[in-house]
Amino acid sequence: MDTILAGRTVVLGISGGIAAYKAAELVRLLVRAGAGVHCIMTAAAREFIGPLTLQTLTKNPVATSLFDLWDEQEIGHISLAERADLCIIAPATANCIGKITLGIADDMLATVAMATRAPMLIAPAMNVNMWNSPAVQENIRILRGRGVHIIDPESGELACGTEGTGRLADITAIFERAAALLQVQDYRGVKALVTAGPTREFLDPARFLSNPSSGKMGYCLARALQWRGADVTLVSGPVALQPPRGVRHIAVTSARDMEAAVKEHAGQARLIIKSAAVADYRPREQLRQKQKKQGGALTLELERNPDILADLGARKGDRVLVGFAAETENMLKHAQDKLRAKKLDMIIANDVSSPGAGFACDTNQVCILTPGAEPEHLPCMSKDLLAHAILDRIQRLLS
Ligand code: CTP
Repeated sequence: MDTILAGRTVVLGISGGIAAYKAAELVRLLVRAGAGVHCIMTAAAREFIGPLTLQTLTKNPVATSLFDLWDEQEIGHISLAERADLCIIAPATANCIGKITLGIADDMLATVAMATRAPMLIAPAMNVNMWNSPAVQENIRILRGRGVHIIDPESGELACGTEGTGRLADITAIFERAAALLQVQDYRGVKALVTAGPTREFLDPARFLSNPSSGKMGYCLARALQWRGADVTLVSGPVALQPPRGVRHIAVTSARDMEAAVKEHAGQARLIIKSAAVADYRPREQLRQKQKKQGGALTLELERNPDILADLGARKGDRVLVGFAAETENMLKHAQDKLRAKKLDMIIANDVSSPGAGFACDTNQVCILTPGAEPEHLPCMSKDLLAHAILDRIQRLLS
């Protein structure tokens, strides 16, 4: 399957708490991202959610008993433990956390957790007093010390009717941590600055000039960088997307706002990717009050905005600079010209007029140009996957 977690195996352990039903949503996200998921349920978890739900979603048998010898052939605990690229326990009860900390292997989940050498991500969920108890806090401290990743529970209303910390962390947050743990951390230590989205150039308080950029490509790049270990700053024009978790997000409106934010953060960046669709012109005059219509035509006078990327190219230093070229004709020629004129290390050219590419699509088809090399045409793919394909190529420039 052609997705970001294709070929990766996740073992998902589910222990018995009311949040067990939320595991189904986590499974759905992992499967949709291409991972092979094998679920293990404790006896208590089966009181809250049926194995059939998870089996249907994963298309894999659900491991329940340690002593089921037939299952042992197929999904035996050692085989599962060895096959896992990542072991997640969500929700993890106080009891489950206690057993894993002490090394008690009296059920399938605790046994696999002990036998696996894969990274482990634990998402606890329990009553607030149990979470705050010295026993659980001490166990969490010990597990963290052993390199286990813990995704802290959230506060809010708990199933037992009380308020406090103990709710299972947001399922998307668990998914994103898992996806990051499944990536090669080849951008660890790299400070990266990404720009995304359109800019808006206001004529008056009620009207602006802009373009159809949705910001998706830039957000996918920022998220992929974060997953691969980079320290990411995302400067974004107005878009309808949630900033990726763990990314420093700076919201801007106009090209000049974007220029100021980029200047402020460019100094620390080793890598700059400019995927924003910056407006080249702004109205010469920005009216304080709404322009009233009059008879006849209206002529607007526009003036040039700064070319943020060209300015960065002129003061390049040892930074790696990557641009995008949005074209509607002579794509390669125009992209080559921009690569040279803006002194870039790479430009990603896309024909924004072709279906399945460019603005506001979930997919993109691009051609990657680097100085002195043949253009590399990539097939049409999801922007998520394309972000990783681009990062694979930028990695060679960084090293
Ligand atoms: N860019 C920029 N500042 C601008 C215009 C563009 O930083 N004022 C950056 C974009 O983020 C992109 C690259 O330059 O990485 C190329 O942008 P594009 O819109 O394709 O081209 P332009 O340089 O604006 O040229 P033209 O509009 O004439 O095609």
